[in-house]
Amino acid sequence: MQRLSSKDVLRADQFGVNEIDRILEAARRYEAALDVGEVLDELRGKILATLFFEPSTRTRLSFEAAMLRLGGRVISVAEAKSSSAAKGESLHDTIKTVEGYADVIVLRHPRIGAAAEAARATDVPVLNAGDGAGQHPTQSLLDLYTIVKEQGKVDGLTIALAGDLKNGRTVHSLADLLANYDVEFVFAAPDALRMPNEIVGRLRASGISIRETESLIDAIQACDVLYMTRIQRERFDDPSEYERLKDAYVLSRDMPSAPRESITIMHPLPRVNEIATDVDDHSGAAYFRQAANGVPIRMALLALVTR
Ligand code: CP
Repeated sequence: MQRLSSKDVLRADQFGVNEIDRILEAARRYEAALDVGEVLDELRGKILATLFFEPSTRTRLSFEAAMLRLGGRVISVAEAKSSSAAKGESLHDTIKTVEGYADVIVLRHPRIGAAAEAARATDVPVLNAGDGAGQHPTQSLLDLYTIVKEQGKVDGLTIALAGDLKNGRTVHSLADLLANYDVEFVFAAPDALRMPNEIVGRLRASGISIRETESLIDAIQACDVLYMTRIQRERFDDPSEYERLKDAYVLSRDMPSAPRESITIMHPLPRVNEIATDVDDHSGAAYFRQAANGVPIRMALLALVTR
């Protein structure tokens, strides 16, 4: 399989349409193989190191499942306090150490830019599994894969991103990735949590239509895909500000403008309070299917970067 043009996966805007197509095509092949119980061994003899200095359920476990499904093996740091980072070791020194143990590294870190810093420290491929409020590019690839599976296309769709657009790395990456396509955006957020001007400006400069609103109902009425996000408590300096904003948007079946059945409802998860459980049986509620799509997408990425 032809490798990706970069050894690392650090930001969603590193990808153009051709490379995205290759990743999604590989993911489709892996998903089909998994569906029929095929046993794969493309990465037999290879080791993945997952270094998670922030909590995770989906990203870490789906990367590890992906590596195991490809016949590889996994070593893991599941929390910062169980690594020597807790003793003050620098990220550089951690990565220089782990490159001696692994063929590919997946890193989640609370600091924006940490994955890029790690990639500069090593020749081993580094995949960014979330760097603070920065980027989460492998999530946006599985989000795109989900949109295509659920809606049958991406061009021509109106996609609403709702919630904490300031701090949510998933929406930063997804907006950048979808800028490769003919989409319209609705950005729905409380004023204090708007999408950063730098991202809005960059998207508008590339010709993307964006409407910003504070109304979730407005967004629901306009969109084909509603991408809800959690208010990111861990990014707030002021707990009272989090308390003020935490329930800004709650999607439920009994709200004044309930989501139409044709809408695809997504969420990177974990959810806290922003999607009521009565939405789970909505035919377009795709968030658990979305989480499952992490495995074939991450199989594709690991196969395309591991040396
Ligand atoms: N979507 C996502 O990043 O989930 P985790 O934090 O559980 O990995």
